[in-house]
Parts: sequence; C-alpha cells; structure tokens
Amino acid sequence: MLRIPVHCITPRRSISGIANTVINTAHVHLTLDTTHATCSKRVDEVKKCVTTDLLLYENFINPTQHETLMKEVDRSFRRTKYQYDHWDGAIRGFRETEKSRWEPENEEIIEIIRTIVFAGEPSSPLTHVLDLAEDGYIAPHVDSVKFTGSTITGLNLLSSAVMRFVHNEDKGIVVDLMLPHMSLYVMKDTVRYEFTHEVLGKDVSYWNRCPVTRQRRVSLLLRNDPMAER
Ligand code: OGA
Ligand code: MN
Repeated sequence: MLRIPVHCITPRRSISGIANTVINTAHVHLTLDTTHATCSKRVDEVKKCVTTDLLLYENFINPTQHETLMKEVDRSFRRTKYQYDHWDGAIRGFRETEKSRWEPENEEIIEIIRTIVFAGEPSSPLTHVLDLAEDGYIAPHVDSVKFTGSTITGLNLLSSAVMRFVHNEDKGIVVDLMLPHMSLYVMKDTVRYEFTHEVLGKDVSYWNRCPVTRQRRVSLLLRNDPMAER
C-alpha cells in the first residue's frame, strides 16, 4: 500500500500559549493513503485541508501533569466498570464520565486547552473523559452536529493510539494520525464534518507499518458550542 507522507506540504504553525509555546507537528504524525481514491481533485483538496484542520501538539503536558490528571481521572472511575455493549456499537470496552469540576492544577490545564483551541469561542463547560480498556476501540462516526460545533480537541493519556479519518464521500481517502501519549489533537471544520473518525483497536493499530502498543488509553475531550456557528 502506497502511503504519501504529507509533511512536505504542511507548514509549521506556532501558537503562543499562556504557559509555553505549542507547535503543531501533525505533519510528522499523519499519513494520507489515497491508493484507492476515486477523485484526484478531492485528494488535492484533502491535502490542503489536513494542514489546517488537523493539528497535533506533542508533549502538550509533562509527566508530572499527566500523573496528576490521571490520579483525578482514576478517582472519578473508582466504581465504574468498562462497557462492552454500547447501543449502537460505536464504541466497545470503555467507560466515560463528564466532569465539570477539576482540582485546581488540572483545571489550569483544561483552561489552557480552551484558550489555545477555542480562543474565546463558547465551549461546553464539561470535559468528556473517555477511558478505553486495552481491548477497547471507537468505531468510525461523525460527532452529532446537535451537540458539537466545528472543533473537537482531545488530550491523549496513558497510551499512544492511532486515530483514523475516512472521507465520507470517498472511502479511499484515509488519514491516520498517530497520537503519542501526552499529546493534544484538534480536529475541526472539514476534518470534523467531512470525515469519520475512529480510534483503532489494539490488533489493528499500526503506524508506518509498525505495530503500535495500544494499552489502556484515556482521552479528555472538549467540544465547542454548536450555537457558536449560528
Ligand atoms: C468521541 C471520540 C475520540 C477520542 O468520543 O466521540 O471520537 O480521542 N473520541 O477519544
Ligand atoms: Mn467522536
């Protein structure tokens, strides 16, 4: 299978955050597979849109912050079991909660994410905490436009994972994004609406043909308000 690295067309973007400077390195963490694409014009459009609408900030938090966040996440899940029978089969081997309050040091991280990603736009006050067991996965889906605006961001904790985006109109356009643990990704606009997204299971998690060790993986997800676009 031919995989085209797209780093050559992706400029480096930097954003001045409150605490530090974060640099988008999605170009070295994604592959675009168009082997079975049906329309070269669409492929050209996708090459452009992934450079602006799919971002990855590596080492967004440090190991101490990671540990502090995970302590609070583990406390929230103390009495919750993993579920393997989601009603629409979109997700397996998971537990989830929505948190409105965090310990001050964790709240600070959540606020930095909001500031950097949403830049003052209204976003849900809730953080969706999603815990995938080692054998868990998220099947392809598009987040409901009823509850989520144009931007979704996730902080990837505990384990690396591969996120896959498949074009709604052409299943032959496939983008894989490698999410190292402690990284923050952002999907927005075309990638959010015109592609399904999924988090691959352990057995099918490959990056550049090498298996990715998928263990238990937690994501902290923030979404902007659909009202913001009206
Ligand atoms: C979701 C989802 C992605 C992630 O919960 O809708 O796509 O990174 N999660 O966990
Ligand atoms: Mn989703």
